[in-house]
Amino acid sequence: MSLENRVLSKYIPEHIAIIMDGNGRWAKRIGMPRTFGHKKGSENLKDIALVCNEIGIKALSVYAFSTENWSRPKAEIDYLMALPAEFKEVFKGKFKDNDIRVIFSGRKDRFPKKVQELIIDVEEKTKERKGLILNICFDYGSYTEILDGVKEISKKFKKGDIKLDDITEDLMHDHLYTRELPRLDLLIRTSGEERISNFLLWQLAYSELIFVKKHWPAFNRKELFKALDNFQKRNRRFGGLKEDKS
Ligand code: FPP
Repeated sequence: MSLENRVLSKYIPEHIAIIMDGNGRWAKRIGMPRTFGHKKGSENLKDIALVCNEIGIKALSVYAFSTENWSRPKAEIDYLMALPAEFKEVFKGKFKDNDIRVIFSGRKDRFPKKVQELIIDVEEKTKERKGLILNICFDYGSYTEILDGVKEISKKFKKGDIKLDDITEDLMHDHLYTRELPRLDLLIRTSGEERISNFLLWQLAYSELIFVKKHWPAFNRKELFKALDNFQKRNRRFGGLKEDKS
């Protein structure tokens, strides 16, 4: 059986997350500027989102810009800030044809006005779509996400809208950016680094982690299927015991 058929005959994760690392190194290796790596990386994001949609994955969360990325050189930040606008044709074209919804997770208040407007517009225009939800984490940091959630819950507690015992895992989940998405099954990080880097810390509690050597622009359909195959071979216990007790 081919790799693809084997993977498709088994459990397909509902929600996967990707740290799209290595754009800069990929570009450097072929003697090109880092921004060329981001260009190829964003094209690759489009391709991988289409594959995820095709095989029935419900949500794909990607780390596109972290709360710490503001410390990069201005020219690189400007380039990354222009990517959502560059993607506009994809949102209206290929993603529309394939019913892919797009949401952005992150602070949203530090972007140039034009980027803020575009994000709101894309979320609004795609919100009725029923295919994959592409969750683009942009000015995203897990500490900020969790702290904002805790502050919201504290306000409700102070007002008397909730009691101490109402503060549960489910309530916390409902105060995260990912509240609409299924439980996170799998995180893939490209480019050989084995770190979480302030990404989806709460959501990752029982996810499988896969680190691959390929840089993000080179992480293609075959690499995705190899990662899914690896995921399907794992024995997820969620803190319990394996069924065969071995
Ligand atoms: C990490 O590689 C990658 C990023 C910081 C940016 C990733 C963004 C995209 C792939 C496109 C996002 C698309 C939209 C629509 C917003 P790096 O630059 O840290 O690479 P390096 O580790 O080799 O230096």
